[in-house]
Amino acid sequence: LASIDVDLAAVQPGQAIKVSWRGKPVFARRLTPAEIDAANKVDVSTLRDPQTLAERTKPGKQEWLITLGVCTHLGCVPLGAGTGENRGDYGGYFCPCHGSQYDTAARIRSGPAPTNLVVPDYTFRSDTAVTIG
Ligand code: FES
Repeated sequence: LASIDVDLAAVQPGQAIKVSWRGKPVFARRLTPAEIDAANKVDVSTLRDPQTLAERTKPGKQEWLITLGVCTHLGCVPLGAGTGENRGDYGGYFCPCHGSQYDTAARIRSGPAPTNLVVPDYTFRSDTAVTIG
């Protein structure tokens, strides 16, 4: 399918869901206020792939972090979207293949991955309904 519709209504702060889009996993995560603060406190100039949380989310929708679930190193699926999974040292996602660690904006913070988890094209159709692709 070129695009998919995803219902986020049941996703609580701190939770994420995984969906499949064009054969790839996509993580849709609802950040807690503390996770948003943590992402916004980072000095972007220190990042390997400098981007703000605002640049990685939609205006007024910073709590919704939607990214591909594909590590930018060699393409493993990072942990952290599933309940109780290891989110790594930066509270975002942890790639078990070679130890890349992503923060609460899914930005690469340590390990071999060169870039942040990719944000796909998507649009909100309502408060909790998105179309990805
Ligand atoms: Fe994720 Fe290598 S594929 S760290």
